[in-house]
Amino acid sequence: MKALITAGGHGTRLRPITHTQNKHLIPIANKPILNYALEYVRDAGIKDVGIITNREGSEVKDVYGDGSDLDLYITYIPQEKPSGLADCVKIAQPFIGDEPFVFYLGDNIIVGGIKKFIEEFERNNANCHLVLAKVNDPERFGVPEIKDGRIVRVEEKPRHPKSDFAVTGIYIYDKRIFEAVNGILPSARGELEISDAHQYLINKGYKITFSEITGWWKDTGKPADLLEANRLVLDNIDTSVKGKVDKNSNISGRVIIEKRAEIVNSNVRGPAIIGAGTKIVNSYIGPYTSIDRNCEIINSELEFSIVLDNCLIQNQSIRIEASLFGKDVRIVKANSKPFTNRFIIGDQSLIEVR
Ligand code: TTP
Repeated sequence: MKALITAGGHGTRLRPITHTQNKHLIPIANKPILNYALEYVRDAGIKDVGIITNREGSEVKDVYGDGSDLDLYITYIPQEKPSGLADCVKIAQPFIGDEPFVFYLGDNIIVGGIKKFIEEFERNNANCHLVLAKVNDPERFGVPEIKDGRIVRVEEKPRHPKSDFAVTGIYIYDKRIFEAVNGILPSARGELEISDAHQYLINKGYKITFSEITGWWKDTGKPADLLEANRLVLDNIDTSVKGKVDKNSNISGRVIIEKRAEIVNSNVRGPAIIGAGTKIVNSYIGPYTSIDRNCEIINSELEFSIVLDNCLIQNQSIRIEASLFGKDVRIVKANSKPFTNRFIIGDQSLIEVR
C-alpha cells in the first residue's frame, strides 16, 4: 500500500495567509497541517508517500525533504496547475503503479488515524473505499446517495443533497481508479472531479464500500475551520512546560510551553500552546490559543486564536479573539500624535475593529 497526499491547490479561501505560504504548512497546535496527514499514513504502516505540490513545490519540499525525519520515503509530484482532485490521481499513476493506495487530502485533520479504514477496504475486497462524515452543510462537499447500505450515486456540491453525509478527504483505491480518472471529462468549472471518478466506478459496477467517521473530522478550507481544527487538536494535548514561568504568572488547564518560551506576570489558561522562544509579558492567553515561535505578546489579551512565527502584539486594550495572524505581523498601540488607527495591511486581509 502506498499513499498519495495533496499539498497543491489554490488556497483562495485562506488568503491573505496563502499569498505567502502554502496552506498545508499553516500550523495547527504549532505543527503544519500536512504533518498530521503524514503521521496518520506512517502510523498505518505505509512508507512510500507521493505528495502533490504546486508547480514550484519547493516550499513543501524544503520542509519535508526525502521524508526521513518522519521515517517515510517521499516523492514529490508537481501538478502543472490545480486541475482537480481526479487530476492529482491521474498524474500520480507512474508513482503508484498497480498497488492499492490511500488518497488523502493534505488539508484534512481527523481523530484516530486511518488504519481502520485501510482494514475495512482490505476486508471488503473493495475497488474503492470512501470515508464519510455527517455534516450540517453537505452542499459544500461530494455527497453520496445511499440505498440499502450501498452508495448508488455521488454528486459534487449538489444543490439538493441526497444525504447528510460528506465524502471526506480520505479515499482508498485499487488500480481501477486510474481507469476512472482517465475516463472522465472536466466539469463545468474546468476541473477533473473526484466525485465524477467515483460515479464512473459505480456505473461500471465496481465495488465501492464506505465507513463513517465517528470522531471528528475537519477540512481546513477557511479561517474558521482552522480555528476549529486548532480547538479540536488542543483539546487532546498534555501539559508540558519546557520554557520559563515566573512566580507572578499563573498557568491553568493543559498548556504546552515550549523551550526558550518565557511567561512573565501573565495568566495562561489552557488548552493552549506557547511556541519556542515566545515571550508573554503582562498578558492573558485564553483557551484554544496556539502561539508559534519567537512571538511577543505584551500587555494584551488573546484567546481562541492562532498566531504564526515572529508576531508582536502589544498594548491592546480590547481582548483579541477568533483571530488568525500570519508570520511577522505587528499590532501595537500608536505612541505618537495623532492617536489614530493606522493600518498597513496586505491584499485580501480582514480587520474587524470595535
Ligand atoms: P480544496 O480545498 O478543494 O481547494 P483549494 O486548496 O484549491 O482551496 P480553495 O478552494 O480555498 O481555493 O482542495 C482540497 C485539497 O486538494 C487541498 O489539499 C489542496 C489540494 N488540491 C490539489 O493539490 N490540486 C488540485 O488541483 C486541487 C483542486 C486541490
